[in-house]
Amino acid sequence: MSKKNTETVITFGTFDVFHVGHLRLLMRAKSMGAQLIVGVSTDQLNYSKKGRYPVYSESERLEIISALKCVDAVFLEESLEKKRNYILEQNAHILVMGDDWKGKFDDLKDICKIVYLDRTPAISTTEVIEKIRL
Ligand code: CTP
Repeated sequence: MSKKNTETVITFGTFDVFHVGHLRLLMRAKSMGAQLIVGVSTDQLNYSKKGRYPVYSESERLEIISALKCVDAVFLEESLEKKRNYILEQNAHILVMGDDWKGKFDDLKDICKIVYLDRTPAISTTEVIEKIRL
């Protein structure tokens, strides 16, 4: 008899101007465990990370992500440095990140498994914004 997977998966991101690359990442993350928790970057964190405020506010992005079938819970990620605390607080077993972050969170290996997933090619929030601008 196969053992039931009861693991909690956690991932983080801004998920602004929601697109199919975001959806695929979240669906693949969910398929690795029993529940998926998503840390959605605050507007302020996005500004410090990317030098611009998101198109959709943090409360709108939280509303969109939490409504997805593959997402079980959401919270606001206020600081990149707090990843260790968030993972422990949420009792997560697996941290999933897109491979744009490859190697960057390997120091968290002592508290959870780290998986970097391939990004969906040829789409990003930045590119969508550029396309709409043109
Ligand atoms: N992601 C992905 N494939 C894409 C775009 C994003 O798998 N084509 C993943 C990222 O690797 C990350 C998550 O989705 O794990 C959230 O990414 P985010 O930075 O919010 O989205 P981007 O589209 O990369 O945004 P930006 O262009 O602002 O950097």
